[in-house]
Amino acid sequence: MPTKHFMALATAGFAAAVLLSGCGKDAPKVLTYQADIKPILDQHCVECHKEGGSGTEKSGLLMDTYAATMRGTRFGPVVIPGQSINSTLYRLVSNKADPSLRMPHDKAPLPDETISKIKDWIDQGAKEQ
Ligand code: HEC
Repeated sequence: MPTKHFMALATAGFAAAVLLSGCGKDAPKVLTYQADIKPILDQHCVECHKEGGSGTEKSGLLMDTYAATMRGTRFGPVVIPGQSINSTLYRLVSNKADPSLRMPHDKAPLPDETISKIKDWIDQGAKEQ
């Protein structure tokens, strides 16, 4: 049956095209704390979230190292690897929480591009390096 044969070939061709397009593109860059996130936190957060800073004093959240950032506040983690939407750190910078809690406190919100970097980093597993 020529029609059937043609369909089989077309299906195989389509499958190959899907496979090729999947492999041909560069894999998305995996973001890491050391390369991508630490510079953001150092610039926008550490002034208050350091030893003796107002943010650390009030919440217990220290953000000067990966370990401290992952430890979170005295109530628990603010970064849940793989789940930006459940991560307080992302919710506060993206304004998905009580506006009075928006971070950085009393300052302009982070640029959208920086916010999406934080989101992607958490969703990719919040890797250190
Ligand atoms: C001007 C000071 C200041 C800056 C800058 C700042 N914070 Fe805070 N942060 C605070 C204070 C103060 C608290 C304690 C909660 C409160 O009083 O609102 C806090 C609390 C937090 C909490 C814990 C909220 C909770 O669950 O209790 C997170 C998460 C947080 N900050 C993230 C950040 C991030 C991320 C940045 C940088 C983008 C940042 N903060 C920058 C002052 C600051």
